[in-house]
Amino acid sequence: MNKISIKLATYFFIAVLIMEVSLILYLHKNIIEARTDEEYARLLASGANHRDVLEDNYSATTIEHIAWMEANSDREVVIIDHAGNLAGSSDDDNPILAQTLALVSKLGTDTEGIVIDDWKKTPYIVSVHPYQIASGPSGYVVMFQSTRSIEQLVDKLNLHFGLAGVTSFVVLFIIYAILSKLLTRPLIRMKEATEKLSNGDFNVSLPAVGNDELGELSSSIQKLATDLERLKTERNEFLASIAHELSTPLTYLMGYSKIAMRQELRESERQHYLEIIAEESNRMKELVKNLLDLAKMDETTFTVTKERFEARPFLEDLQRLVEPSFKLKHIQLVVRCDEDFQIQADPLRLEQIVLNLLDNALKYSGEQTTVTMEAFFEKGKTVIRVIDFGMGIPAEEQAFIFEKLYRVEKSRSRTFGGSGIGLAVVKELVEAHGGRIEVESSVGKGSTFTVIL
Ligand SMILES: Nc1ncnc2c1ncn2[C@@H]1O[C@H](COP(=O)(O)OP(=O)(O)OP(=O)(O)O)[C@@H](O)[C@H]1O
Ligand SMILES: [Mg+2]
Repeated sequence: MNKISIKLATYFFIAVLIMEVSLILYLHKNIIEARTDEEYARLLASGANHRDVLEDNYSATTIEHIAWMEANSDREVVIIDHAGNLAGSSDDDNPILAQTLALVSKLGTDTEGIVIDDWKKTPYIVSVHPYQIASGPSGYVVMFQSTRSIEQLVDKLNLHFGLAGVTSFVVLFIIYAILSKLLTRPLIRMKEATEKLSNGDFNVSLPAVGNDELGELSSSIQKLATDLERLKTERNEFLASIAHELSTPLTYLMGYSKIAMRQELRESERQHYLEIIAEESNRMKELVKNLLDLAKMDETTFTVTKERFEARPFLEDLQRLVEPSFKLKHIQLVVRCDEDFQIQADPLRLEQIVLNLLDNALKYSGEQTTVTMEAFFEKGKTVIRVIDFGMGIPAEEQAFIFEKLYRVEKSRSRTFGGSGIGLAVVKELVEAHGGRIEVESSVGKGSTFTVIL
C-alpha cells in the first residue's frame, strides 16, 4: 500500500549505504595504515637505538641488558653475532622467534629496515639492524613487534563501525516512519478522494497539509470537489427549471387543443384557440432555441471574431431594426454616439448582446418613456450602455438576473413572456469578448445596463 514511502526509503537507504560503506572503508584503511606506520616507526626507532648502544659498548652485559629491556614490552629482540649464532634474546622459549629468524636470514640482513611487514599474516612484524664495531664484532639486531595491538584495533574499529551501521538502520527506519506519515498518508487520502470523485460522490473533505506542493494539490482536489458539487446542484436546478418552463406552455397547448377539437365550437372561437396554440408553440420554439444557444455557449463551440467597425452606423442599424416594436409601445429610442467612434468586437455577437438588452428595455418599460443606447470610450475601454426608465429591478435581485432561467417575480415575466435566458446569454457573450457587464437599477425609476469591453 505505502509504495511511495517504501520507494523513497529504499532510495534513501541505498544512498546512505553507499555513503556509509565508502566512509567506513576509507576510515578503516586510513586508521589502520596510520597505526601500522606508527608501529613500524617505533620498531625501527628502538631497533636503531639498540644497535647504537651495542656499537658504543659491545659486551655480554649490554646484550643482556637489551634483552632484559624488551622482555617486559610487547616487543622482542634477538641479537645475532658475526657467525650467525644467537648472542642474546628477550624470549628464549618462543618457537615463533626461532622460526622467524631462519626466514629473516634468508631475506637478507645487511641493510637496516623492516623485513616482514604483513601484519595480517604473521604474529610479528620484524625489522633488522646490522651493527659493526670497529674492533671486530659484527652481526645484527632483529626486532619483533607483536601484531596483536593492531589486531585489537581492527576488532575495535569493526565493532564501532558495526554499531554505526546498526544505528543508521534505526535512523533510516525512523525516517521511513516520518516520511510515510508526512507524505504517503496525505497522498493516499487524496487518491481515495479522487476515486470518490470519479464515482460521482463529491462529498469529499481533505485535511490541510501545509503550504507545500502536497498542500496545494490537496486544496486543488478539495476545490475541484466543491466545484463539481456546485455544478451538480446547478445542473439539477437548471434541468428542473427547464422541465418547469416547458411544462407550462405544454399544459396550455394540451388544454387549448382539447377545447379547439370540440364539435360544438363556433368557427371564430376555434380560430381564436388555434391562434393561442400557435402563439404558445412559438414561445416554446423561442425558449428551445435560446436553450440551444446557451448549451452551445457552455461548450464554447461559438467563436468570437473581433473586428474594428464604426459604432454609430452599427447602433443606427439596430435602431431601425427594433423601432417598429418600440413605436407600438410609444417608446422613444435614442442613439448617442460620436460620429467616428470605433468598436473592436465581433459585430454579430455584439448585435445579439444589444438586441437582448433592448428587448428587455422594451419589455420592462412603460409607454411614453425613452430608451437610450450609447457607446463611448472611457479609461481605455469601450463602453456600450442601454438606459431605460422602466420598472427597474429590486437591489436584492440584481445579483441573480444574469443566471440562467432567473426572472424577477415569475408573474411579471408571464405577463411579459420572458424565460430568463436573455441576460445569461448576454453575460456569456460579453465574457467571451473578455469584457464584463454591470447593472444599475432602482425600482420604479429604470435600469442601466453597461457593457465594458
Ligand atoms: N431593463 C430591465 N428592466 C427591468 N427588469 C429587467 C430588465 N432587464 C431584465 N430584467 C429582469 O431580469 C430578468 C432576467 O432577464 P432576462 O433577459 O435574462 O430574461 P427574460 O427577459 O425574462 O427572458 P428572455 O430574455 O429569455 O426572453 C427578467 O425576467 C426581468 O425581470
Ligand atoms: Mg430578456
